[in-house]
Amino acid sequence: MRPLAVYAKTELALHRAAGCFLYDENERAILDFYSGHGVISIGHSHPHYVARLSEQLQRLMYYSNAVDFAEQTALCEVLGPLSGCPDYDLFLVNSGAEAIENALKVASFVTQRTEVVAMRGSFHGRTSLAAQVTHANRICAPVNAGLKVTFVALDDVAAAAAAITDQTAAVLIEGIQGVGGIWEGSSLYWQELTRLCRDRGALLIADEIQSGFGRTGNFFAFQHHGPTVKPDLICTAKGMGNGYPVAGTWVRQGLPVTAGSLGTTFGGNPMACTAARAVCEVLQKDDLIARAAALGQNLTAALRDIPQIKAVRGRGLMIACDIEGDSYPLRSRLLHKHGVLVGSASTKETLRLLPPLSVSEDQCSALLDKLRLALNES
Ligand SMILES: Cc1ncc(COP(=O)(O)O)c(C=O)c1O
Repeated sequence: MRPLAVYAKTELALHRAAGCFLYDENERAILDFYSGHGVISIGHSHPHYVARLSEQLQRLMYYSNAVDFAEQTALCEVLGPLSGCPDYDLFLVNSGAEAIENALKVASFVTQRTEVVAMRGSFHGRTSLAAQVTHANRICAPVNAGLKVTFVALDDVAAAAAAITDQTAAVLIEGIQGVGGIWEGSSLYWQELTRLCRDRGALLIADEIQSGFGRTGNFFAFQHHGPTVKPDLICTAKGMGNGYPVAGTWVRQGLPVTAGSLGTTFGGNPMACTAARAVCEVLQKDDLIARAAALGQNLTAALRDIPQIKAVRGRGLMIACDIEGDSYPLRSRLLHKHGVLVGSASTKETLRLLPPLSVSEDQCSALLDKLRLALNES
């Protein structure tokens, strides 16, 4: 048996990881500016995280939602105030796509409608509804069909106003588009989407799977757009677990969700809750969200000063830079010659930078030095 060959693989014989570094079998250190698609938030193998998970593993690894366990309550107690969203209830699942799937189901249950408005350039995952609201139909199999989705250009208020009707169950938008290449709606756009949804009885869903948990310098990226922006549903995953599979569909309190309408066997298990709680504790104790904002500002300013970089986008530690032509040779030189791993996006000229939020100023300087060197070698 072999792993199914469905991925384009980075050549790296990964053996262990600590902080912002990956190590191969020969203990060669690689500076991780990608965090495995933005998953590592507090740093690889953070000691507090490892201690919490080790204790949990030995004491109570699993039970299902057939019983209440203290780990779920403890997570909600820390997450509510830290996120600035204490007035939501949390439905815990295992992956980003599942969080999207459940948000769309809640929107449809609540509104009794079946249509969705989503953004061009979006990525929301590979399960059936998530694949259909993703703007890349190569991930849809014939069985992933039947949902009426209208894709609109990000930031085009008139297009949104035309697309959102009294048949729309939900409008779905990423806090900042990640896979699409770090594109963000303006504050005016977010405010207008909020108003249009309210006026037409549709629910606003913020996909914060990549942009949430502090990555953009606020707990959620939508929080950059003013207090009137208040999604009905929020989806989180990735940085929530720092590598442990945990995700959530956050439901604004007051939305009628009937008992029995949602469910999962593994979602919200004690290990997952403890992983997410440990992430929150470290975000808070080490002030990682404010640090992400400050480090991101310095990093984007420095990137804008590099002449070969044509454009820089993003907030906090969710950054894209575009170069002339295909970024693959540059990414490959960075990894194999300079020991830095960076990400790509669906646009071939884009580098995507998603370091752990615990990255240091020195590590950001090292990234810049190595990037300048690698650009000059082209
Ligand atoms: C914005 C966004 N939504 C949803 C997903 C899907 O998450 P998962 O791969 O955990 O199902 C991703 C994954 O990259 C994502 O970036």
